[in-house]
Amino acid sequence: MRNLKKILALLMTGIMLVLAAGCGGGSSTSSGSGTKAPSNGKRVGVAMPTQSSQRWIQDGANMKQKLEALGYEVDLQYAEDDVQAQVSQIENMITNGANCLVVASIDSSALVNALAQAKANNIPVIAYDRLLMDTDSVSYYATFDNKGVGTLIGKYVEKKLGLAEGKGPYNVEFFAGSPDDNNAHFLNDGLFEVLKPYIDKGQLVVPSGQTDFNTICTLRWSQETAQKRMEDIISGYYSNGKKLDAVISPFDGISYGIAAALEGAGYQVGTNWPIITGQDAELMATKNIISGKQTMTVFKDTRILADKCVLMVQAVLEGKDPEINDTKSYDNHKLIVPSYLCTPVAVDKDNYQKELVDSNYYKAADLGL
Ligand code: BGC
Repeated sequence: MRNLKKILALLMTGIMLVLAAGCGGGSSTSSGSGTKAPSNGKRVGVAMPTQSSQRWIQDGANMKQKLEALGYEVDLQYAEDDVQAQVSQIENMITNGANCLVVASIDSSALVNALAQAKANNIPVIAYDRLLMDTDSVSYYATFDNKGVGTLIGKYVEKKLGLAEGKGPYNVEFFAGSPDDNNAHFLNDGLFEVLKPYIDKGQLVVPSGQTDFNTICTLRWSQETAQKRMEDIISGYYSNGKKLDAVISPFDGISYGIAAALEGAGYQVGTNWPIITGQDAELMATKNIISGKQTMTVFKDTRILADKCVLMVQAVLEGKDPEINDTKSYDNHKLIVPSYLCTPVAVDKDNYQKELVDSNYYKAADLGL
């Protein structure tokens, strides 16, 4: 009798898990384009943060397609920036028999318990793009040089404004990414390493006085939050007609919010529109670069990142050592995670054709060309 009860309880748990996996918290994508190889019997769980930004949609699709081409079964889940939904998705992946997990986190420190379960089940975990913090349950990290992204943005602005030649003073405002994303800190460090000396010398002036990470950060990299902060900055510090020369944005989505606030306040491209930076080379950002609404972005080719990450998955599942090129930058407070860093590229009006069109990232027609 006790056994029967146990079996029934297990069955019920199983049914609930299947239901939860089907309709819980986020969205799952099961269709993929590209060639599927016959199953090799191994299952890979791919946890992505959100479909609200183009890059993650591409990341997920690339990972799924490339893993399936090697015969892996893929459980791709998006958590729509809901931290608890991502925890449940990872737990479900483990229960559903994942052999390896690839995780692009929402909150880098919120997955410690879920990842401990993976470790307890001998499931290797690869951090995708964003480092998994405060856990020893991560084996490898595939990403771009995140500090390098900040350096590229800083150097671009330095060159555009002629700062190295002593030009200025210019009025500038700063935005940073989400405080719970390790990448936001790395980017900001790279950026300020280049630009802080010019603030110190008075060539860059920040009328709002807001330069501290905790003041300029944008939770969840939200476009709306950025738009609101930009509106407040415009009305608080620029209403007297003070010229705004540049707005430093760490992400195309944030740049859209900044541009919307500027438009709302009557700024016009070609007259008093400031330099606006960005990251990800989203389609809309690229169109904005062509039309002059955004000045530059940082292109991180998601195809290359997915290639590197898939090779990592393959290696760990075959008991081999994956290719890494960095063993000292990414300390997650528990270990220095062996990483592969891809190289980001600054893109503006002058090189988008070569970087984004000639490389087939976008078709000319997608950009209205
Ligand atoms: C990624 C960026 C992205 C940002 C917002 C970061 O972790 O590295 O490419 O722009 O998240 O999604």
